[in-house]
Amino acid sequence: MTSVTDNAPAAPKRDEDKILIFDTTLRDGEQCPGATMTFEEKLQVAELLDDMGVDIIEAGFPIASEGDFEAVTEISKLARQSVICGLARANFADIDRAGEAIKHAKRSRIHTFIGTSPLHRQHQLQLSQDEVFERVVASVTRARGYTDDVEWSAMDATRTEHDYLCRVCEAAIKAGATTINIPDTVGYALPEEYFDLITMLRTRVPGMDKVVISTHCHDDLGLAAANSLAGVRAGARQIECTINGLGERAGNAALEEIVMAVRTRHDLMPHHTGIKTEMLSRASKLVSAVTNFPVQYNKAIVGRNAFAHESGIHQDGVLKHTETYEIMTPESVGVGKSSLVMGKHSGRAAFKSKLKELGYNLGDNAMEDAFNRFKALADRKKHVYDEDIEALVDDGVAHMND
Ligand code: KIV
Ligand code: ZN
Repeated sequence: MTSVTDNAPAAPKRDEDKILIFDTTLRDGEQCPGATMTFEEKLQVAELLDDMGVDIIEAGFPIASEGDFEAVTEISKLARQSVICGLARANFADIDRAGEAIKHAKRSRIHTFIGTSPLHRQHQLQLSQDEVFERVVASVTRARGYTDDVEWSAMDATRTEHDYLCRVCEAAIKAGATTINIPDTVGYALPEEYFDLITMLRTRVPGMDKVVISTHCHDDLGLAAANSLAGVRAGARQIECTINGLGERAGNAALEEIVMAVRTRHDLMPHHTGIKTEMLSRASKLVSAVTNFPVQYNKAIVGRNAFAHESGIHQDGVLKHTETYEIMTPESVGVGKSSLVMGKHSGRAAFKSKLKELGYNLGDNAMEDAFNRFKALADRKKHVYDEDIEALVDDGVAHMND
């Protein structure tokens, strides 16, 4: 076990271990009920993602609305480093609209998809296996007319028959797809199952070694990040994710969780991403503000409690050595510093440290007296603020002087 909080990968970074981060906050994230963004807000988010080192930004679904088309067009013009991607279903109208929207980008991508599982084929599309197959070939071929960077997704891949999934992946590659995405559209897979699925495709599909394999995992069972990382272990080199895990239903894999898992566990994984992790907290706050979607307090990496300690044992440990209860530094994700929250579980060590921070230097008796009164207060009051502590110390000192 190596030291964890310096986070700097010890071994040199190899190109083949680079994981491309494909952010779909502006597309799948925006599909989260109630999370729509204005045109200006989308540009703001896209600029930050571009600065943060996101490899591919899925900027929207151009055929969905005039607003989406305009946003993808404008983001294509402003992006400095990221590839800008537009989503399209497997029909020419969608693909042509996406092609038009991304045409100003320095580097552009069309992402086209179709449902491949029996449920999607029969009930949603009412198409036979062969008809879906034909659409795959036609859509990828059409998209290649606009850009040589084409991603194809087998929607609901994790509930698709393996033989058929192999057949359509092979067809998409032959038609010119350069990235093959294997979505767990309904968040149904377990990590070992998703690992086996990617392994199976790599073994059986001719040409799979020439394309980038991508994960796109939803969080219906809370396994989106774990499944994405299992996909990487099996050979995937692109992860589709969103800031704060925003997305349809329970959301998508959270970008910040994936990136920090890879960074923090470099002792077990040789992989790396190009994300400037110090910007993660800012990105989370921006997306939360523009979507009006609060981040749950205990959300991994970016929740307000992610670096807060309340219990006496934990506070004591952190004061002695931060690594006792922190596996990454708050600075590494852009949070100023960890905090010791003063409450009924806090112990003497944290209380003493808080007094010092507030400028008090009490003798043993005054300290003991203040601590006892703090404990009594914390039992009655949910939140004990600095002002409460100042008041009880000042009050105690005044009584001692009476
Ligand atoms: O969840 C999904 O399958 C999607 C596709 C459009 C890739 O969002
Ligand atoms: Zn999705």
